[in-house]
Amino acid sequence: MIDRREWLGIAAGATAYALVPQFLRAEMTAKLIERVIPSSGEKVPVIGLGTSATFAQVARGDDIDALREVIKTMTDAGARILDTAPAYGASEEVAGRVAAELKVANRIFWATKVNVAGRGEGAKADPVAARTQIETSLTRLQVPVIDLVQVHNLADVPTHLAAVAEMKKAGKVRYSGVTTTSKRQYGQLQEVMRGEKIDFIGIDYAVDNRDVEETILPLAAEKKIAVLIYLPFGRTRLFQRTAGKELPAWAADLGIRTWAQFFLKYVISHPAVTSVTPATTKAHHMMENAAAGTGPLPDAATRRKMADFIDALPAASS
Ligand SMILES: NC(=O)c1ccc[n+]([C@@H]2O[C@H](COP(=O)([O-])OP(=O)(O)OC[C@H]3O[C@@H](n4cnc5c(N)ncnc54)[C@H](OP(=O)(O)O)[C@@H]3O)[C@@H](O)[C@H]2O)c1
Repeated sequence: MIDRREWLGIAAGATAYALVPQFLRAEMTAKLIERVIPSSGEKVPVIGLGTSATFAQVARGDDIDALREVIKTMTDAGARILDTAPAYGASEEVAGRVAAELKVANRIFWATKVNVAGRGEGAKADPVAARTQIETSLTRLQVPVIDLVQVHNLADVPTHLAAVAEMKKAGKVRYSGVTTTSKRQYGQLQEVMRGEKIDFIGIDYAVDNRDVEETILPLAAEKKIAVLIYLPFGRTRLFQRTAGKELPAWAADLGIRTWAQFFLKYVISHPAVTSVTPATTKAHHMMENAAAGTGPLPDAATRRKMADFIDALPAASS
């Protein structure tokens, strides 16, 4: 006899599976490519899941079935890193609750953030409030240890990193890092990468947003810092640019069947990239994204061809 909770889990899984196209189901069995976290040697799959707008949006309504399907599909496919933050509305709480219900919390690499500084340049964080925010994340995610806590948007880095270090010492956090997706902060990010001992950075990177290739990705490789990639689609920007366009025929040689896979294979084929966390509310998109983490990756010449192809398209309207 199965209880209601188990039935919901099975039903969610069945629905998710039914929505996954045939060709993606075949790829569900392929193992995701893994990359090493330089500070520890631990391996993680190159595809994860982001949760900012998507989880916050869905969580605002009562219906979290779609997110349950996404998380079930993610863990079934072997993807692991789930990127969240206290600033993403109900994202942490919903992800933690759903993972606990599905009994998959221990298969997820939990990446959250900390930021208790007020708004504005130079705003200071209170150290006690920073530690309290991380404790709250532990409660919301329903886990005894958070894998990664990053300083969100480089806010008061010394105070926040000290709080993360304390939590690491207490065995409640495994890795530390900092994030930004603002080009204005790239200089500050490099200072932190050179001056602080951090395990990860989180940064924006996409086939039409390649500034990080110049200094930040090479610096991460030099300093042995793992890299999480955000905004691999520029939210809707890349889909707008390629709307109505056929994939180039040579993309099939890389096992690329959709534009999302084209965008993801570009990003993960950079050797300094550890994992990418595209956000989605749809199980079949999660599966499609996970499949991009299998099979061949483009070499340097093909990466150039991919970037040239996108550069030749008109810019997105907004
Ligand atoms: N400073 C920071 O720390 C920072 C800043 C920005 C982002 N992040 C992190 O990075 C994550 C990713 O960034 P993002 O969510 O802003 O943007 P994104 O991942 O570039 O794009 C998300 C959008 O792509 C769509 N999508 C996903 N998979 C798709 C597919 N296979 N086919 C078609 N559409 C697809 C989603 O819509 P559907 O729901 O319809 O699939 C969603 O609208 C965030 O969620 C967050 O965790 C961190």
